[in-house]
Amino acid sequence: MSGTDIKNSGRDGARTVRVWDPLVRFIHWVVVLGVLVNAVFTDPEELPHEFVGYAVLGLVILRLVWGFLGPKPAKLSSFPPSPGAAVSHVREIGRGDRLVHLSHNPLGALMVYNIWLTLLVICATGIMMGTVTFFGVEWVEELHELAFNWLMLSIVLHVLGVVLDQRRTGVALVKAMISGSKKIPDGWSIK
Ligand code: HEM
Ligand code: HEM
Repeated sequence: MSGTDIKNSGRDGARTVRVWDPLVRFIHWVVVLGVLVNAVFTDPEELPHEFVGYAVLGLVILRLVWGFLGPKPAKLSSFPPSPGAAVSHVREIGRGDRLVHLSHNPLGALMVYNIWLTLLVICATGIMMGTVTFFGVEWVEELHELAFNWLMLSIVLHVLGVVLDQRRTGVALVKAMISGSKKIPDGWSIK
């Protein structure tokens, strides 16, 4: 990937590549915290639930804007939502291709867009419930709950995907979401 900072990091031939900038990492872990807090700790009838929800909404919007302004791996154009690319990616895995995607791989990308969209639906319906027009409207409350349940399922699959991809490629993805750098093992090409 051009314009990316790649360093050989030792005798094992592994390369260390800077991937996630501080803003991407900050937003990821604060959104995780916000979802956890609203799912487990806040009372949905009280104001803190709304404040945390607004913070999550703000961070998702900021991340989407950063997807146009940020560095290359953070750019939405580096991981377009493409079912075709996801199918090709599964085929590559089946063939045993030794390819590591610096940004999200095409399967991960579909999940990332799904999570963002789901969070936007949760926050939009949450805000709607507080308006005169939609106060007490059943489908809005149901959609808020349904989207939340869908988010929980998505997160299980998201974490499973991360764990399986870590095992397959040997790249410590969770560590990279903390430190910002991916260490690519020798013998693997970078896409
Ligand atoms: C509420 C829970 C979670 C949500 C909403 C969530 C959402 C997301 C989103 C939106 C991204 C894309 C990041 C970006 O491009 O800005 C992402 C990436 C990532 N998440 Fe999560 N996540 C959650 C929990 C977790 C947990 C518990 C882990 C660790 C086990 C994790 C590990 C990762 C990793 C490693 C990536 C980068 C994957 C890659 O290298 O392609 N996430 N997550
Ligand atoms: C990360 C974002 C959010 C999450 C994870 C979340 C999660 C939830 C959950 C799990 C419930 C309980 C559903 C049920 O079983 O009845 C709920 C209810 C509710 N949420 Fe949220 N929410 C979020 C954002 C928001 C926002 C931004 C608002 C408003 C500004 C909001 C307003 C409400 C209200 C008013 C209820 C009560 C619905 C009722 O039971 O009558 N939420 N939310």
